[in-house]
Amino acid sequence: MKNISLNTILEKDNLTKKDIVSLLSLKDPLDFKLLYQKADDVRKEYCGDEVHLRGIIEFSNYCDQHCLYCGLRLHNTGLERYRMTKEEIINAAHFIYESGIRTIVLQSGEDHKFDCKEIEEIITAIKKDLDVAITLSTGEREFYEYKRWKDAGADRYLLKHETANPKLYSVYHQGDELDERIEHIKYLKSIGFQVGSGNIIGLPQQTIKDVANDILLLKELDVDMCSISPFIPSQNTPYRNEENGDINLVLRTMAVARIVLRNSHIPATTALATLGSDGREKGLDVGANVIMPNFTPQPYKEKYLIYENKARTDSDPKIFVKQLHKLIESVGRKVGNTKGHSLKVKEEA
Ligand code: 5AD
Repeated sequence: MKNISLNTILEKDNLTKKDIVSLLSLKDPLDFKLLYQKADDVRKEYCGDEVHLRGIIEFSNYCDQHCLYCGLRLHNTGLERYRMTKEEIINAAHFIYESGIRTIVLQSGEDHKFDCKEIEEIITAIKKDLDVAITLSTGEREFYEYKRWKDAGADRYLLKHETANPKLYSVYHQGDELDERIEHIKYLKSIGFQVGSGNIIGLPQQTIKDVANDILLLKELDVDMCSISPFIPSQNTPYRNEENGDINLVLRTMAVARIVLRNSHIPATTALATLGSDGREKGLDVGANVIMPNFTPQPYKEKYLIYENKARTDSDPKIFVKQLHKLIESVGRKVGNTKGHSLKVKEEA
């Protein structure tokens, strides 16, 4: 692209869909550099230099869904399933707190047998013991369940829209509808959750226009956080022989999302680090301001196989957190020491 026209796009206050498609379609590494620099400037202006750490506990790998790309899908009989006990989950939350992290992410497959009350009790217990924010990432549940968990003290909910293309959404999710997913995201927001969403890049049949629509949907939903990650083919799924998502397209999408969304939190994802050992640094350079280290204890951690070879972090998460501190400082940034709430709501001390 001619630099004059690229600079004209990058200087606009509001990008059109056509602009977004042009940016996502860039081919020249020199153009990538200009795009990434702009994203980094926007990140600095709207989010500052802090990188927020969120400790994840993957507390159940049971899932009732059939997503064609995901290793946790119900029909993957090759996966040994587990549910952590309430006590194990609360212990893991304490461990995260002792590592200096002030957000606990409780993540699982869509496991309806992990009932509402049990999750409510876990939220209550963690909130009673620890001064932390809690993010839930447990898939689509009943609306009354979201409300009970919000009332118990959960702060945030992460529910990715996965793809903004309604036809592909229904293909990947065996007939489920994108509109319904969006209703859930809107409801979560309406009851006061800080809401995270996001998409997967490089799923079969997806086009650049679909990815542009992902960014526009995230903008329309006014998400507090968005996770943009590459598709990684997973054994024992119908998409096992498909190709990885293109890491450069993921980086461009993160950069454009940063420019369009301005102050939404954006993580440098584990999936990005799985595709390249410097994936996290690259993510931090193109607009990311969050990293989510995995604190799932053994023997469970290696069974949460959304895809294989999930970036192997050091077996001791405390050592991994130290490495993350070094990494964050090495790229000239600071580790956040607050709960790192949404930048769209006033941060409490
Ligand atoms: N590659 C990348 N991300 C995936 N997810 C599921 N399967 C894959 C895959 N093969 C993500 C989805 C889902 C979450 C559980 O993990 O975004 O919401």
